[in-house]
Amino acid sequence: MRIERVKGTRDFLPDEMRKRRRVESKLREIAERWGYEEISTPTFELAELFTIKSGEAILEEMYEFRDRSGRHLALRPELTAPVIRLYVNELKMSPKPTKVYYFGNCFRYEEPQRARYREFWQFGAEIIGSDRPEAEAEIIALAYSIIKELNIEAELHLGHVGLIREILRGAGVSDAMMSRVMRLIDKGARDELMELMQSMGIDGDALMHIIDLRGEAAIEEARHITAHSESLEHLEQLQQLLEYYGVGYDLNLGIARGLDYYTGMVFEIYESGDKLGAQRQICGGGTYRLAALFGGDDTPSTGFAFGFDRLTEVYCMDENEPKRVIVVPVKNEPEVLQAAIRITSRLRAHFNTYLDVMHRSMSDQLAYANAIHASYAVIVGKRELGEGKVTLRDLETGEQHKITLAECIAHLKREI
Ligand code: HAM
Repeated sequence: MRIERVKGTRDFLPDEMRKRRRVESKLREIAERWGYEEISTPTFELAELFTIKSGEAILEEMYEFRDRSGRHLALRPELTAPVIRLYVNELKMSPKPTKVYYFGNCFRYEEPQRARYREFWQFGAEIIGSDRPEAEAEIIALAYSIIKELNIEAELHLGHVGLIREILRGAGVSDAMMSRVMRLIDKGARDELMELMQSMGIDGDALMHIIDLRGEAAIEEARHITAHSESLEHLEQLQQLLEYYGVGYDLNLGIARGLDYYTGMVFEIYESGDKLGAQRQICGGGTYRLAALFGGDDTPSTGFAFGFDRLTEVYCMDENEPKRVIVVPVKNEPEVLQAAIRITSRLRAHFNTYLDVMHRSMSDQLAYANAIHASYAVIVGKRELGEGKVTLRDLETGEQHKITLAECIAHLKREI
């Protein structure tokens, strides 16, 4: 019986894994250069970690279940809440700000489509302990520099949910209703949004106007709608710092984000090279306060997460398969095999090296070398062994030389 993969999950073949590992190591390397340290959290958590802020509605988007002891658990749909839980439990005494990064799989019960999966990976970073414009500017600049270093065509959209929340609060919208409103803004459901505002007896015009504001004039126009806004001042300071960092972005005051915990600056990055179709958001982030909800002191934080699968899909890798060496014992005789294993071990200290495990003839071993696109064969025969040598064959040109193993290694080091 053939057993299928579960809907929304994927298998990764060697070429894809090579690309994923390449992108992953670049991301780690960049985060480390910016002074962030890696942490890791469990794949499943108590479900309440995710519902405490977002309400029971989020359960529908999660893989949640009871274990044999009746604990209500969930596969993590994202990593920010687990990271803050870890911070409150383990790191709250660490020097502020605490700067961490993470890479891990997440699970969401969404309708799968191109670049939208039920199991996907996120690479993210958080600055815990500050919501100053300086911290926000650094987080945005880090995300921006990842895009630049990976050579990805993308647009960064910057907004501020604090501004939207100020307007809603000013209009008398309760905290409970606020998340419904934010969710509708995030979905771009304008008609539903207007209806909801009307049903609360609130004139939705100011809100509609704010969320439509884009580009350079947005702040000036927003000031006409809400004169003394802390959020606007904050946003202006942030803009100044982003200019110092040389970050290019578009102001978009309509960004509301899908998750409920944001309190201030928010940003999203979209791939703009037409490689992803509808699901082209490759990164999302912003400023939030979650620590107090998980039993810690009220601690502002700011961070982002890249959708690692989307990022990898749009990344162009300029390198091909690794160069491979194959050691070919001419005969399956004990002393030849023993020498071949010894030589292979020496080569494996430096190169990607294969050795026959199928008890094959020399010609079948060379056919296999061809099939796996090996670049060099190191042929080990009785006669060469007697002379303390091996035959190194360049499988692309067919050229070959009888040389010592030390010469062979030196030659391969120059070529590979
Ligand atoms: P998010 O926008 O929900 O934010 O997810 C971050 C990124 O994960 C998205 O921009 C997208 O690229 C990717 N992503 C989300 N869902 C899927 C899916 N079903 N399939 C493939 N990729 C997906 C967060 O999760 C926040 N925790 C980000 C954050 C960190 N905010 C502050 N710190």
